[in-house]
Amino acid sequence: MTEPTIFEMSSPGRRGVKMPVSDVPEVALPKGFERQELNFPEISELEAVRHFTRLSQLNHAIDTGFYPLGSCTMKYNPKINEATSRISGFANTHPLQPEDTVQGNLYLMYELQKMLAEIGGFAGATLQPAAGAHGELVGALMIHAYHKDRGDHQRVRMLIPDSAHGTNPATSAMVGFEIVPLATDARGNVDLENLKSLVDDRLAGLMLTNPNTLGLFDENVEEVIKIVHDAGGLVYGDGANMNAILGVTQPGKIGFDILHYNLHKTFSTPHGGGGPGSGPVMVAERLLDFLPDPVVGIIEEGDDENPPLYGLVSPAKTIGRIKAFHGHFGIHVRAFTYISMLGAKGLRDAAEKAVLNANYMQEKLKGSYTLPYDRSCMHEFVLEGFWDDVPGIQALDIAKRLIDYGIHPPTNYFPLIVKEALMIEPTETENLETLDRFVEVMLKIAEEARTQPELLKNAPHHAPIKRADELKAAKELVLRCYPKY
Ligand SMILES: Cc1ncc(COP(=O)(O)O)c(C=O)c1O
Repeated sequence: MTEPTIFEMSSPGRRGVKMPVSDVPEVALPKGFERQELNFPEISELEAVRHFTRLSQLNHAIDTGFYPLGSCTMKYNPKINEATSRISGFANTHPLQPEDTVQGNLYLMYELQKMLAEIGGFAGATLQPAAGAHGELVGALMIHAYHKDRGDHQRVRMLIPDSAHGTNPATSAMVGFEIVPLATDARGNVDLENLKSLVDDRLAGLMLTNPNTLGLFDENVEEVIKIVHDAGGLVYGDGANMNAILGVTQPGKIGFDILHYNLHKTFSTPHGGGGPGSGPVMVAERLLDFLPDPVVGIIEEGDDENPPLYGLVSPAKTIGRIKAFHGHFGIHVRAFTYISMLGAKGLRDAAEKAVLNANYMQEKLKGSYTLPYDRSCMHEFVLEGFWDDVPGIQALDIAKRLIDYGIHPPTNYFPLIVKEALMIEPTETENLETLDRFVEVMLKIAEEARTQPELLKNAPHHAPIKRADELKAAKELVLRCYPKY
């Protein structure tokens, strides 16, 4: 039996809330704004509570179950980060308030810029970008501005490995760069010979994800960067996978010129669901002047008695403003809390556990699933979701069957260089029992694929929605709160 919608539950006269008696004079609405009927459902408070609680439980969430969605880092985010982001002084300030009334907020952003730059080994940072992809766009704009400033107008080519996330070529193309694909070698590294054959004085830069989307740290990363630098290009780091190397190594020290983080992965904001993200961008010394406008700086130094005065400053050759106000401030508060609570040791510990957990599961699963790049991984690993001797079963079937066991499917069909890819990221926040249960379920599914393949083909059997038409779900998404008449 399907559950009624909130509109079907409506019954005239039922009330969840009573409006207080108005204590201000009534004023007529401007013409054109009045409506005879407001089509709100009429339900009691109990019905509303049950309805929304039930809806919230239809979704899989990190608070209810394991979520090994590779490259999305669905780790548990401590609730303290939510609590601090709701502190009134943070949550109820307005970006247009005079700077002297929001010194605490400016202090937090200034310190966060410094923390993020230090973690990555960079000279400065902007907090403005709204997501990883937005950070990439900012990086590509800075690379463009840097070459233009030097009169290097012929530098129009951006190299992008074939394992990269789709946002890398997309954002570079938006800036007007010509996208040049770069091959991956048999060990999952950048193919050095291919790289050497592609660099010349038209090279603007390379966008490199490290660890890459195979979950592998490029064994030749310093050489890769040197080849690009020697040819006059800049190296952009897609730092979406930074959670694997926090406190262990620093991309800025390795030679990357620019890097973005996904605060909504590495620094404790839930990722996914289309909610707000944040993709701060860090830069090396030579790119500081090109940062978006404004950054938070110290306007007046403090002394023993007085704190410094914080304010907004414009970098000398800025690419301009790229986001309204200062980015997603609530997410900055969460990241600041997370980093402050963990400290340097805690961040390193998180990275080491993320890597340990992934390697543990990889070792347990690689006998039953093909591991195309068979070497120790970082925070995630990619298996093939098919078997030559089990015709008809594909990665999607395995992913859907996991739902029946109460586990969110891993990322599938990405990266594109692995056939029927299943990209698995356990994160550092899961315990040994959860990792073991996932392994056990995956082994069971591998067995079911041989003995009862229809169980996989028709999965999920117990979810509220069975197999959706994924194309339609993306292209004809219905986000309507009113029923269609
Ligand atoms: C490797 C990589 N780069 C870039 C992105 C884009 O980040 P966002 O979704 O925040 O735009 C992602 C997102 O998952 C990613 O995994």
